[in-house]
Order: sequence, then C-alpha cells, then structure tokens
Amino acid sequence: MASSPSRVTIISALARFCLFFLFLILTVGLIHQVLARPKSRSKTYPQMRAGAPFKIAIFADLHYGENGWTDWGPRQDVNSTRVMSTVLDAETPDFVIYLGDVITANNMPIANASLYWDQAISPTTSRGIPFASVFGNHDDAPFEWPTEWFSAPGIPQLVCPAAKSTCSGEEACSFRGTPRLELMKHELDQNVPSFSQNGPTELWPSVSNYVLPVSSSASPKTPVVYLYFLDSGGGSYPEIISSAQVDWFQNKSAEINPDSRVPELIFWHIPSQAYKNVAPRFGIHQPCVGLINKESVAPQEAETGIMNLLVKRPSVKAIFVGHNHGLDWCCPYEKLWLCFARHTGYGGYGSWARGARIVEITQQPFSVKSWIRMEDNVVHSRVDLSS
Ligand SMILES: *[C@@H]1O[C@H](CO)[C@@H](O)[C@H](O)[C@H]1NC(C)=O
Ligand SMILES: *[C@@H]1O[C@H](CO)[C@@H](O)[C@H](O)[C@H]1NC(C)=O
Ligand SMILES: *[C@@H]1O[C@H](CO)[C@@H](O)[C@H](O)[C@H]1NC(C)=O
Repeated sequence: MASSPSRVTIISALARFCLFFLFLILTVGLIHQVLARPKSRSKTYPQMRAGAPFKIAIFADLHYGENGWTDWGPRQDVNSTRVMSTVLDAETPDFVIYLGDVITANNMPIANASLYWDQAISPTTSRGIPFASVFGNHDDAPFEWPTEWFSAPGIPQLVCPAAKSTCSGEEACSFRGTPRLELMKHELDQNVPSFSQNGPTELWPSVSNYVLPVSSSASPKTPVVYLYFLDSGGGSYPEIISSAQVDWFQNKSAEINPDSRVPELIFWHIPSQAYKNVAPRFGIHQPCVGLINKESVAPQEAETGIMNLLVKRPSVKAIFVGHNHGLDWCCPYEKLWLCFARHTGYGGYGSWARGARIVEITQQPFSVKSWIRMEDNVVHSRVDLSS
C-alpha cells in the first residue's frame, strides 16, 4: 500500500518544477534571441556614384507618435513628413541618417511604436533612398504615466517576471515598453533599403553600434569613408557611451582602418560632454558655424573614453549628434568637428524652424562639407569639415 507523499518529496518536486520552469524560460529566451537576429544580408554597402559627391541628409529628433491620442499629435507628424519630403526633393541625397528620437515611445505599446517608426521612415523608403538609423533616448522609453491616460487599445501588456512569481509569489510587474531590439527587428524585417544593424550582442541593450563603409564608385572594395554609429543610450538605460562600446570602437577601427588612412565620420544621438567645452556663448562666432544657439548642451551622463579615442585618430573628421533641438552649430574640438544636426520634426520640445543637416563627401580630393536645408528651402551655415 503506497503511503502519502512526505513533505520532503513535495518540496523537492516543487523545486524540480521551478528548475524545469526556469530552464524552459531560458530556452525560449534563447530561441527568441536567435530569431531576433537580422537575416543575413548580402554584404553590399552604400557606394558613391561615378563623378558625383556622396550626399547624406540627417533627420534628427522627429518624435513621431508623440501624444498620438490627441488631435495635435498626429498633425505634428504630418508636418514632419512634409519637412522630410521638402528636404529630400530639394537635395536628392544618396543616403539618409535617422539620428535618434525617431519616435516618442514613452507610453507606447510596440505595435504603435513600429507603426510610427514606419511613418517616420516612409518619406525616405517611398523614394527608394537607402538609410540607416541610430537610437535616441526617446525611442525606447519606460512607461511613466498612469493607465487612465490611455484609450483601451492603447493600454500596454503587463509583464511579470514569470519564473520568480511561480517560485516566490510577490514580484513587481511592469508595463511592457518598446525595446530597441524589437524596433530594430521591425525595421530590418520590412522590405526597405535599411543599412541599420543590431550591433554586437555583447553590447546589448545598447543596440545601434555598427559601421558602414561608403565605397568608391570605381571599386566596391575600396572604402572612401567609414560611417560609425553608436548608441548613446537613454530611455530604459543610462545616457552614456559605455567603456564596452569604447572597446568595441577601438577593436573595430583597429581591424578595418588600422593606419587611419580612411576618413571616418561618427554619428550618435546625445552630445558628449566635450560639446559643453566648445559651446559658443552669446550667439555663434567663428570658428563655430550655425544659426541657433538657444539652449545649453544636454550632454551624456559621463565620459568613459570615447572622446579620448576619437581625438587621437587623425581619420576622424566630425561627430554628429541631435538631442538638443535649439542648437544647430558645428564647432572645432582639437582636430575634429563637433556638430549638431537640426531639429527636423515638429514633435518634441521647441518651435525653432525645422530643417535638416546635409553632409556632402567628395572622394578626390577628399572633402566633407555640410550645410543646413530648412523647411522653406533656405540653405545656411555652410561649413567645410575637412579643413
Ligand atoms: C504644422 O505646420 C504648420 C506650418 O508650419 C504650423 O502652422 C502648424 O502649427 C503645425 N501644426 C502642428 C500641430 O505642429
Ligand atoms: C495605439 O494605437 C491604437 C490603434 O491605432 C490607438 O487607438 C491608441 O490610442 C494608440 N495608443 C497610443 C499610446 O498611441
Ligand atoms: C577587443 O579585443 C580584445 C583583444 O582582442 C578582446 O579581448 C575584447 O573582448 C574585444 N572587445 C570587444 C568589445 O570586442
């Protein structure tokens, strides 16, 4: 006759169940990560057209989807689409860079976030222009506001730490935000001419860390310039370029451009602290070039070494950031230039007129020139960044 199971066997069965459950979750997580990797793309990179400069339009701080539940929110996005269309038609760039804060993901479920992301890239994709994106602090933001603020379909899913709650009961649940990886996966899964990348997994949750060579028209294997993209954080984690990213940059640049022979341009969203050192006071004067200097630089939280590395590389010509909507200047810093883009979107704070920074690269002789094209088609703040 079988005796009833002892207390010990129940506890050990429970423990085994919890272990099994944990194992299951880890496995599912792993499979999910593997699936989340971008499909292996053919190794084609942007290439210059014969006899023509390579022109890049930078769209910064579009903030699509901001207050999507009001009527002015969507109207702003219509305006931002108009700004991009004007710039694209006037400049006909070869490439577009979305320099972060493409959307305002605060309090936005993933379905909406990818919808707004699509809207933001559509002026570029509908013209068949290749592009790349880098994340800003608003693209992946935690939920801050009470649920009463949302319409029923807008209330995000509640996530509870499943493994822990099975075993220990009480655990804080939180609303599911829109992680960078999912946004990037969405962009890469679309059939669009995107050159964005997920970056090395060891740098996650810092996602958009990658480099694109722009190759010469004559030979696809000869890089004319390297475009580096770094994720300056924000949203669900600190606003910083970490020492792991610095290591990555050091390794990568040593691997692909060991003797600094090929010029390099750097793109990220939040200005580094060095921008504070060069910020002009009271207006903008030589050697700085720009039109608006209306607020103080809002820099990253700390400096972990990326600037030291960049100033030591003679190949690095300029860094481009967004984030501060009221600044559009370029100022020299040591041997390179620190540039702001121009606020392109109607979303986000500030009502300074909208525009886009243009960067034009020529091969022989090598030069990097830049200017700002406004919504009303006025062009200003021309500057030679290779001098
Ligand atoms: C859209 O743009 C027009 C023209 O610049 C402006 O008058 C209007 O206020 C903008 N609307 C919103 C909601 O930003
Ligand atoms: C998300 O999209 C749905 C359907 O389009 C809309 O009803 C809801 O208001 C949106 N929520 C947010 C937070 O934008
Ligand atoms: C950089 O290279 C060193 C030496 O090869 C290696 O140990 C390290 O893991 C690399 N770091 C990154 C972030 O790739």
